[in-house]
Amino acid sequence: PAPAAWRRRSSAVAAGPRRYRIAWEPLAVSEKPRLSGRWLLVTPDGPGAEDTALACEQALAGHGADVVVIRVGAAVERAELALMLPEFGALAGVLSLLAPAEYPHPGPQTPDACPAGTLLLLQALGDSGIDAPLWCATRGAVAVDGTEEVRPEQAQVWGLGRVAALEHPLRWGGLVDLPEPLDGPALDGLCAVLAGLDGEDQVAVRAPVPLGRRLVPAPEPATPAPAPWTPRGTVLVTGGTGGLGAQVARWLAERGAEHLVLLGRRGPEAPGADALTDALSALGARSTVLACDVADRAALERVLERLHDAGDTVRAVVHTAGLTSDTPLMDCTPEELARLTEAKTLGAAHLDALFDGRPLDAFVLFSSISGTWGSGGQGAYAAANAYLDGIAAARRGRGLTATSVAWGPWA
Ligand SMILES: NC(=O)c1ccc[n+]([C@@H]2O[C@H](COP(=O)([O-])OP(=O)(O)OC[C@H]3O[C@@H](n4cnc5c(N)ncnc54)[C@H](OP(=O)(O)O)[C@@H]3O)[C@@H](O)[C@H]2O)c1
Repeated sequence: PAPAAWRRRSSAVAAGPRRYRIAWEPLAVSEKPRLSGRWLLVTPDGPGAEDTALACEQALAGHGADVVVIRVGAAVERAELALMLPEFGALAGVLSLLAPAEYPHPGPQTPDACPAGTLLLLQALGDSGIDAPLWCATRGAVAVDGTEEVRPEQAQVWGLGRVAALEHPLRWGGLVDLPEPLDGPALDGLCAVLAGLDGEDQVAVRAPVPLGRRLVPAPEPATPAPAPWTPRGTVLVTGGTGGLGAQVARWLAERGAEHLVLLGRRGPEAPGADALTDALSALGARSTVLACDVADRAALERVLERLHDAGDTVRAVVHTAGLTSDTPLMDCTPEELARLTEAKTLGAAHLDALFDGRPLDAFVLFSSISGTWGSGGQGAYAAANAYLDGIAAARRGRGLTATSVAWGPWA
């Protein structure tokens, strides 16, 4: 009786909105924002970063800060940086320009190279006991309207930063996305954000005033609703033998997909793969289960070649492959960051590139709410999911189909 009463009560509660979207709200800015104390500007030591660094240094100084600058070499180690930082004395704030440089580290230019610099700085500041708020600048991490180009590598820093805010609230400043060009008003906007805008910690500096990030209920679909997507032909599901991938495969088969190509590193060896293909066959769909690491572009290319040779045209892609993470940012090595993010980030980047020029009915990415609002202990996961959201925005900006679903927990 008790559970029944509970069910009756809970079913009486009006359902809230089930879908949300990001909105950008104009912020009130003081005419002459003032900074005080010593601000540390952290900039990459390499070509291409000097102009931005100089512009920011002059702007911060012009708004009252005592600015000190550290140029961080590409090969700097965490311990080395932690030893250097205390030399600057007591700090009122730290502004990192490491992210906009995009690839501050040597080696392959993988998506994790961008957030790795931010992670390193956050760790070194913590190691050296510096509690000054860290602000991370990005460029193109967010689109405040449909026309702005999104750079998914930059978006990752926002995913990571939202977790830093939860794990280290006392030494976190915020995320500030800078416009192109970084002109006088934009630099004034940056300084206004650093001076503090009523607790705003996720801001896009745009003309005429900075914009604060908001999560708002998404409007209900227009009535009559647009025609739903009807799966057809061959659909590629990465992570297709995983928990949600298998559910999606069944859902696709029920709605008309004729052939499901299910990818995972273990391929047919994954637990439940045989039962899944039987279930799909009972639903009238053919299935092909292949071992393929989606972070490996050549392996993915081989899959597509094989499908092409067999006369199978992929009509839609659902990218569910991914790893979760439960390592706090202070314990996450750059190698772990790369390992935990690559299935989502490199997988999505390869799929995006390999289907360039091939029309798709749908390109669906399985992202997570942790990328939208952060989740303590899930820095790498949040960064990877923010990358997926970014790549969807970038594709849509190029006029291509893409949907990134930031799921809450399924169970
Ligand atoms: N479950 C939830 O509540 C939830 C909530 C929000 C978002 N999501 C997202 O939804 C997706 C699926 O979640 P899930 O719960 O179904 O996870 P899961 O059961 O662990 O499945 C993940 C799948 O990804 C595959 N995979 C991992 N790395 C791969 C790689 N490099 N190349 C190819 N395949 C790879 C795994 O297979 P192998 O090990 O054989 O490679 C596995 O089949 C994930 O992206 C997750 O972040 C899930």
